[in-house]
Amino acid sequence: MSVSDPAKYQAALTAAALVQSGMVVGLGSGTTASLTIALLGDRLKAEGLDFVGVPTSAATAELARSLAIPLRELDEVEDLDLNLDGADEVDSQFRMIKGRGGALLREKIVVSTARRKVTIITAEKRVERLGATMPLPVEVSLFGLKHTQVKLADLGARTSIRTQSDGTLFLTDGGNGIIDCRFAVSDDPESLDLQLRRIAGVLDTGFFFGLCDLLIVGHADWVERVEAPHRR
Ligand code: A5P
Repeated sequence: MSVSDPAKYQAALTAAALVQSGMVVGLGSGTTASLTIALLGDRLKAEGLDFVGVPTSAATAELARSLAIPLRELDEVEDLDLNLDGADEVDSQFRMIKGRGGALLREKIVVSTARRKVTIITAEKRVERLGATMPLPVEVSLFGLKHTQVKLADLGARTSIRTQSDGTLFLTDGGNGIIDCRFAVSDDPESLDLQLRRIAGVLDTGFFFGLCDLLIVGHADWVERVEAPHRR
């Protein structure tokens, strides 16, 4: 495997080591989750690691299948022992923004069912305030998309409907749209989240609260493991 980002690789290695035979494991989406899944594929081959994955996106399911990782749909399992996923930003209270890859809704549903929720990031993703480095992805119904966009803008966001590189609308695995919203950074993302969810047409936001028990942070030459305060 080519290791272009050693910090990400070391963090993924630490995360992949948490999986034990017999576990049901939520498999996140994005580059960090993909690296972790590839390392789990290596362990499956080398050690016969015997676990079942629950994918959070079609892309993740395809990757896991290519590595012969056995998969189940979320509704085929009772709960998950462990969830392994990346994030775009994490603050000191372990609140997160996710969804740059567009898998936020399924990622949130899957991680919510896990007994142990692990987030794997590199150091620059730790921020003082959420929204510092990227807009907040908001998953919306395609029906009335423009009206939902206006309502998001009324809350003070600079909005942009996500498109693909060829200019066509970006669609999530569930067939919904994403509106990326840039708000002034706030100390109270929970209130903002509530306001956003009250808008008809908003299906979910990229804010993830209370959904990280263990943060694995890759630095250039070491890996930090930080338990969330509610688990200490
Ligand atoms: C996918 O929709 C996202 O939530 C990813 O988990 C997040 O964007 C992190 O992705 P990378 O690991 O690619 O940075």
